[in-house]
Amino acid sequence: MMNNNYYLWGMKHELNPFLSVGYRGPDYFCDRVEETKQLNRCIQNGMHVALFAIRRIGKTGLIQHVFHPYANSRKVSCLYLDILATKNLSDFANQLATTVYSHFPPQKTLGKKIMELFQRFRPTITFDELSGMPSLTLSFDSKTQKENTIGQIFHFLDKQNIKIVFAIDEFQQILKYPENNTEALLRGYMQQLKNTSFIFCGSNQKMMHQIFNSAKRPFFASCTNLNLNHIRETEYKAFIQKKFKVHQSKIDSECLDFICKWTKLHTFYTQYFCFSLFAKNKKNNTLQDAHETAIELLKLNENTFFQYKNLLTTAQWNLLSAIAREEQVFQPQAKSFINKHGLGTPALVKRGLEALLEKEMIFYQTGVDKPYYEVYDKFLMRWLKHK
Ligand SMILES: Nc1ncnc2c1ncn2[C@@H]1O[C@H](COP(=O)(O)OP(=O)(O)OP(=O)(O)O)[C@@H](O)[C@H]1O
Ligand SMILES: [Mg+2]
Repeated sequence: MMNNNYYLWGMKHELNPFLSVGYRGPDYFCDRVEETKQLNRCIQNGMHVALFAIRRIGKTGLIQHVFHPYANSRKVSCLYLDILATKNLSDFANQLATTVYSHFPPQKTLGKKIMELFQRFRPTITFDELSGMPSLTLSFDSKTQKENTIGQIFHFLDKQNIKIVFAIDEFQQILKYPENNTEALLRGYMQQLKNTSFIFCGSNQKMMHQIFNSAKRPFFASCTNLNLNHIRETEYKAFIQKKFKVHQSKIDSECLDFICKWTKLHTFYTQYFCFSLFAKNKKNNTLQDAHETAIELLKLNENTFFQYKNLLTTAQWNLLSAIAREEQVFQPQAKSFINKHGLGTPALVKRGLEALLEKEMIFYQTGVDKPYYEVYDKFLMRWLKHK
């Protein structure tokens, strides 16, 4: 496991300007100017948003970036709720209560009122040993009470004369709850609220589309859909160059070109690459340094790649390698592709694609002119290509 020091610091104990986890403020954040504007417009106008994108492109980061300036606002309260760890509606209610409790400290007037509301549900407050963060567990006597609690929290905040924005991250999780009315329940509350808007976001695209884009389901046409794409090359290059420059270091344009190409501007991987390069603490960063960093990253992650291999059948692994070698595949069932890589029959490839999509080893990029398949993990893609 990577230790914390390695993660946060470059060689000379200067904070590494490239993050691959979390959000640390606008200084560490590249571009997303348009998307930030769009989301702000939605917040100001009380519109609900569903945010779509492939994994690790920066959905969560964008939400935190948009929320950041509202941290001390008296007019707008932005609450961020990650429900990945929730397994049912009780967990959801507790997570919601915890988020609200942490956002409005009980020392303040509104916080006091909220605490009074929570008292009704006989809360237990525990504190995380490491972070010291509080966590609320409410008691529910019945299913109805559970459902009502969620409604009561939303309604209570909605009446407080401020704009409330809830970002619910990993929202697809609700599809895994044993309670099958969660979508209808939440949608119902949403329709009753006047000062509250929602941003829904999730890392599983298929499930997110199921929730928001099927005509028969409660959330259909309830939100403005926003698609988050890759950060543009010009903006990303300028960002990277600037960060090196501020730390009295230079980066060659060949080196920059290599990084953008090699990571395909997939945010997490580009950040991770730059983090590693920066950590070498060179005065001048050349193409040679980029090559070395690339090799090191592949070595560092090799164990994970072998674990992936064990999860797949030989046919699936061969298909994955073929997609990696091509980088982007537009027609995987075409004869030319199948024959070139010896993949058997179109039917076999079809099954393989489904399995690889399901396991999130590849994604299907549809938000473009010509949709294509691509390997998700950019380091795995390079490793497969290298072989
Ligand atoms: N605009 C940005 N500028 C710089 N770094 C960014 C930016 N957006 C995201 N990142 C970095 O990339 C990492 C991955 O982004 P993030 O976690 O937001 O992606 P995500 O789309 O929410 O991923 P997942 O689908 O896995 O939830 C972040 O932790 C952050 O450090
Ligand atoms: Mg995320």
